[in-house]
Amino acid sequence: MTHSQDTVIVIGAGIAGLVAALSFKGLRVDIYANAPMGQGTASNWSQGGVAAAIGPGDSAAIHIQDSLIAAADIADRTAVEFIVNKARDAIHFLEHQGVVFDHNADGQYALSREAAHSFPRVARVKGDLTGPGIMAALQQQIKQRPDIQLHSGWKILDLIMHDGRIIGAFLLDPNGHVHRKLATAVILATGGVGYLYKNTSNPKTAIGEGIAAAARAGALLSDLEFVQFHPTTMAVGLDPSPLATEALRGEGAVLINDQNERFMPSIHPLAELAPRDVVARAIFAQIKSGHNVFLDCRAAIGSGFAEKFPKVFALCQNIGLDPVVTPIPVEPAAHYHMGGVVTDLSGRTSIDGLWACGEVACTGAHGANRLASNSLLEAIVFGQAAATDIMNIRMTKSPYAPRETSVINYVPHDVAMQAKELALRAMMRDRVGVIRHADDLLWAQAELEKLRQQNLSHRLGNMVLVAGMIIHMALERKESRGSHYRTDYPNLDQAWCRRQSTTMQNLMEAA
Ligand code: SIN
Repeated sequence: MTHSQDTVIVIGAGIAGLVAALSFKGLRVDIYANAPMGQGTASNWSQGGVAAAIGPGDSAAIHIQDSLIAAADIADRTAVEFIVNKARDAIHFLEHQGVVFDHNADGQYALSREAAHSFPRVARVKGDLTGPGIMAALQQQIKQRPDIQLHSGWKILDLIMHDGRIIGAFLLDPNGHVHRKLATAVILATGGVGYLYKNTSNPKTAIGEGIAAAARAGALLSDLEFVQFHPTTMAVGLDPSPLATEALRGEGAVLINDQNERFMPSIHPLAELAPRDVVARAIFAQIKSGHNVFLDCRAAIGSGFAEKFPKVFALCQNIGLDPVVTPIPVEPAAHYHMGGVVTDLSGRTSIDGLWACGEVACTGAHGANRLASNSLLEAIVFGQAAATDIMNIRMTKSPYAPRETSVINYVPHDVAMQAKELALRAMMRDRVGVIRHADDLLWAQAELEKLRQQNLSHRLGNMVLVAGMIIHMALERKESRGSHYRTDYPNLDQAWCRRQSTTMQNLMEAA
């Protein structure tokens, strides 16, 4: 074990973590990233953009309204207003870091349209290369900051707690050595949970390790049942599944089945641009009834494909498909987690010394269903907010009484563990996925309980913990709302028009 001097620790090097780090002044910042720079983060794969009401006719009020409607009535209005009202500043912050957003010939931002947005509102970089474009600029800035050290290939094992306060983290270095790193503040920016599912658009690192560490430390967690499935990932047998951005549908691409039938117009007035959960369920239903589903870009995009959507075009080329002449086979896949570690508008969690931003956090801005491209916006706004708060704060005692952190477990993630991981992911897809039912959720819960009795690797232990908490909250919510759809409770229930928050300890006591 090694000790380091007090500093701010940022765990995760996606957009949220890098923005947080860059927003500090006068403090030493250590970023720990679980993969080499630019890899292992969903940010780098992002094809959408930053939602901002900066186009003609649009307004923050309409953006707020769209976000609240997509969130199926349970978003925290204050959090939505907080991000939406800071969208223009967020764009300017990124430009200041060197990000060059796409502009039209008249010098206005070239904004694209995505599902459930009333206006074209998504600022992008070189079409669908927004994630890599933003990441490259932020990484360049990080390199020029001697006060920021980036450590690649380090994994968080657990948070260190002393006297009810987070004072650092146990981290595993690339050579397998455990370090005890102390800090004045820890920011979790570890990303989401998509890789808990067999079909996902997320990288292998997205298993909820930040949620798991915060949960063991006693942090308040919220909305874990809400996992968003992206309707159109490429159904080409790859794991993770390559994304076919929603902006393709914003440009007019349509969904067809293998009978060449468009099925969305009969399901929702917005057809292919209906809210993401509606489109995902419609595609899922087609597939369940034996059809293959395709995204047909031939008429709407055609020969402009490579120029307008270079990322999707390259992904298609990798699998030998020309989207100019051939529809892209698609299926829904786990994409984004609305739930996570509860934070306030400063990114503060319920535990002193611990902040969270980006997908690991639950700010309440997304409710039961995130509006497309609000996530990068939230990551930027809350990355900045967390850093600002840490620079300003005079530490106070937390009203919560979290327990001491747990013991670290060193079981290797060997071939046997990998097989169990794959089985868990398939089970999550089949039993806790786009369509849920108590029988399936209970079955999955029982399977996880069997796994929990075994001596698991740290990675698999985290996966079992987070999957178990998702299932618990999914069972509790006896209704269908946003991304959470249950065939045994297919309707909205006013009594459930609220968010669910709890701690891991409360869940264990209730079990
Ligand atoms: C997409 O481009 O379809 C994904 C954007 C998002 O998830 O916000």
